[in-house]
Amino acid sequence: MALISKHHVWYPYADLNQWDNSTNPVITRGRGFHLIDSKGRQYLDGVASMWCNVWGHGEKEIIRAMKNQINNLQHSSLFSLANKPSIQLSLELIRLSKGMEYVFYSDNGSTAIEVAMKMAIQYYKNRDRPEKRHFVSLQHGYHGDTIGAMSVGYIPRYFSVYRPLLTRVARLPSPSLKLSEPVSNLEEILEETESCLKKISVKTCAIVMESGAQIAGGVRIYPPGYQKKVAELSKKYGVLLILDEIATGFGRLGSMIEYLNQGSIPDIVCFGKSLTAGYTPLAVTLTNPEIYRSFLDKKAKLYHGHTFCGHPIGCATAIANLKLYRKKNLLRDISLKSGYIRKRLCEFQNSAAVSNVRHKGMLAGLDISRRGVDAIRKGTGGPVDSFIFRIALNSGVYLRPLGNTIVVIPPLAIDTKNLEYLLSVIGVIIEKVERLL
Ligand SMILES: Cc1ncc(COP(=O)(O)O)c(C=O)c1O
Repeated sequence: MALISKHHVWYPYADLNQWDNSTNPVITRGRGFHLIDSKGRQYLDGVASMWCNVWGHGEKEIIRAMKNQINNLQHSSLFSLANKPSIQLSLELIRLSKGMEYVFYSDNGSTAIEVAMKMAIQYYKNRDRPEKRHFVSLQHGYHGDTIGAMSVGYIPRYFSVYRPLLTRVARLPSPSLKLSEPVSNLEEILEETESCLKKISVKTCAIVMESGAQIAGGVRIYPPGYQKKVAELSKKYGVLLILDEIATGFGRLGSMIEYLNQGSIPDIVCFGKSLTAGYTPLAVTLTNPEIYRSFLDKKAKLYHGHTFCGHPIGCATAIANLKLYRKKNLLRDISLKSGYIRKRLCEFQNSAAVSNVRHKGMLAGLDISRRGVDAIRKGTGGPVDSFIFRIALNSGVYLRPLGNTIVVIPPLAIDTKNLEYLLSVIGVIIEKVERLL
């Protein structure tokens, strides 16, 4: 019988028929950059536990801050009350995020996006433009699994079944930068973006897009200048810009705040994942004084609030985490490791098993070639992602591919030895596919 029925846990994004009691590990501990299962086997975390882990496990300064907070105040809501960690963290976030002045707290990235969408619609209502209530987003964009987030981040293979729940959103093409090729259709994409905004800006409140790169939609890195241009177009046509830095902010692409790196100040920005190094759930939606002022002017309330908004333990964790970024100069360390990752990826891009490689900072995506995909299916009778997952697991690495794309998203502070091992296992996977060709 499958583990699912034994545990009574319904696992996210799981093929219930593929779940295997004997081989899907039960994780009981974390040590450094490894997850350790109930049988004592250890797995290097190649996807930073769904893209959020920063320091690995057992980071003492963060644990100390969490313990201190637990000893003082375990929970207090933000409904008619404030708490110190949420105030302190908002000051820190505002200091980092140029153009932003106010922080709205939630507990996961999807709801941070819902908050952003509600702010944008209500902003135009506050400014007596209620007809501006539609959204524009990008093809291949992903923003989470709640209803609004699925509407703007519509990935058909995940969400087509939920379509009756979703609102209609105009979708623009998005560019993708390969390792050693310039983007040839950037001009076309920008022209289409402009002509769409020109046509529908009267009814559009905001454009929603990931900042710097799209990850869940297939690891698509924006070429230089693209996001800046979209920001300029959003200003030109009077449409708010909502940037999603939930997966790409705080170092993943090599910058602390990716929109600053891209020269594109948004009206609203969302952060999550690495914000707490993965130690507690927390997400934030930041906005500028103009949007906040529209609520003041109209005496309007934002009807959004969660039980765990501004959770003191989450906020104390994030404060300690951000302090460590500075203390350990994490961004410098990332820039060195990013160079190493790129060098290793160049070795893989000529393999017949690989059709396309993308990389930025601590993020990489490698597509298995058409021939490779056919060979895996023929040779194993199973899906490509399970094939990759199993080889990695047998080599002591936790990897979760996106369909036919191997995604490399290690904990940001991973040490060189473990990073080398992770990339060597990617090499092993590629060799195994080559042997099937
Ligand atoms: C870009 C982006 N936005 C939003 C989300 C949703 O975040 P969460 O899973 O915390 O709801 C994710 C999650 O992977 C993401 O990658």
